[in-house]
Amino acid sequence: MQPYEIYVITNQELREKIRAASNDQSQVTDCSYLLVFAAWDNYTAERINAAFDMTETIRDFKSESGAAYRQMLLKSYPNRDLEVNFTHAAKQAYIGLDTALIAAAYEQVDCTPMEGFSPDAVDEILNLKSKGLRSVVMLPLGYRKADEDWLVTLKKVRRTKEQFISWIQ
Ligand SMILES: Cc1cc2nc3c(=O)[nH]c(=O)nc-3n(C[C@H](O)[C@H](O)[C@H](O)COP(=O)(O)O)c2cc1C
Repeated sequence: MQPYEIYVITNQELREKIRAASNDQSQVTDCSYLLVFAAWDNYTAERINAAFDMTETIRDFKSESGAAYRQMLLKSYPNRDLEVNFTHAAKQAYIGLDTALIAAAYEQVDCTPMEGFSPDAVDEILNLKSKGLRSVVMLPLGYRKADEDWLVTLKKVRRTKEQFISWIQ
């Protein structure tokens, strides 16, 4: 269902406001593009139907299994607790974030995944509530200033594969 949207913010005035709601972190205004991942605040029958309708239109066919799946979701998701649905949608947004991180690295663009902001304040600044969205995570993108960034030369710290991965064969 792609239960999230991405805002790409280049407007400096807005970014100043977001920076103030992000512990004054400078990457919010220094970056070239500020991505805000905003998840659906809830799963409604309207949103579920729209996703299934779009699938049927694009694929130009309807199936019994598709109809049953739609009904299953319509019966369960809209009746669940609001926070359960938002958390579910937010997790999907992180799939998008992960893909963006890897894509940026592949393109040799620097970025910083950020949760260090007040979601309520950012929702207010971007008027997300009225759109049924809530900010989840941000991703400033750009190019590092290597000569001014003391972190650049530090070694990456990673636990070893043995500590990190358990094989069950
Ligand atoms: C979910 C999440 C939230 C984060 N929030 C912030 C943040 O608000 N500000 C910040 O400077 N770094 C934040 N970080 C950490 C930076 O993105 C950090 O540079 C990065 O995780 C380090 O990655 P590396 O070990 O590949 O260099 C966050 C990381 C994650 C995964």
